[in-house]
Amino acid sequence: MEIVKPYYSLITPGQIAGWTPDKQQQLAASAVALINQRADGHMFTYASDEIVPFLQGAHAAAVVAPDGNELWAFGKLFPWHVATTLDGLHPVTRSAQGQIPGVVELGALAVHPNKERQGLAHRIVAALVGQYHALYPPDIPLVAVVVNDNLASHQLFSHLPGCRPIDPNQLPIDILDGWKPPSTVFRLTG
Ligand SMILES: CC(C)(COP(=O)(O)OP(=O)(O)OC[C@H]1O[C@@H](n2cnc3c(N)ncnc32)[C@H](O)[C@@H]1OP(=O)(O)O)[C@@H](O)C(=O)NCCC(=O)NCCS
Repeated sequence: MEIVKPYYSLITPGQIAGWTPDKQQQLAASAVALINQRADGHMFTYASDEIVPFLQGAHAAAVVAPDGNELWAFGKLFPWHVATTLDGLHPVTRSAQGQIPGVVELGALAVHPNKERQGLAHRIVAALVGQYHALYPPDIPLVAVVVNDNLASHQLFSHLPGCRPIDPNQLPIDILDGWKPPSTVFRLTG
């Protein structure tokens, strides 16, 4: 019987949260390298220490090679609280702080350049949408900010069932404050 090896492994937010601190640090370093490589004015760039809280708080998902040694795709959920600023990138979960955010943003979505157009972004988005439903009440908008010249990302979000562009002024928090490139806000749920 031929054993077919998996093509990739999806690591869920809950699995990442259960990893040892060392393993989380390694993933944070790989995620930062991938995000910063792919940012190209479409995303914020990060330092590893800024990513670790998202891993610990079950707010990030990853796709890795079947042997686990290479990061192929990454994304995270960022809960915007009224007091959140662009300098304060520390996610606070409801269970940890008893606070409920005004908006949750799916972002820092990056796929390895050799692994594009193979559905990996779709897998990350599906995992993060699932985690959003597990953590937050459905009346909190789940959104993604897409720079208008980012064709691949526009394709991704405009083809997701139920996902549509919204007027960002409808949101309770100005999530575009401080963000310069002309962008579209997609609402994924609700
Ligand atoms: C945007 C990005 C995450 C898409 O990742 P991906 O794994 O290639 O996406 P998927 O294979 O899941 O495909 C998603 C959709 O986008 C489309 N797509 C992907 N790359 C595309 C491209 N270069 N041009 C046009 N459409 C593209 C796919 O055909 C697919 O369409 P479908 O939903 O109708 O099937 C990836 O290109 C990337 O990392 N870009 C750089 C970082 C970035 O821009 N991140 C997003 C910030 S909002």
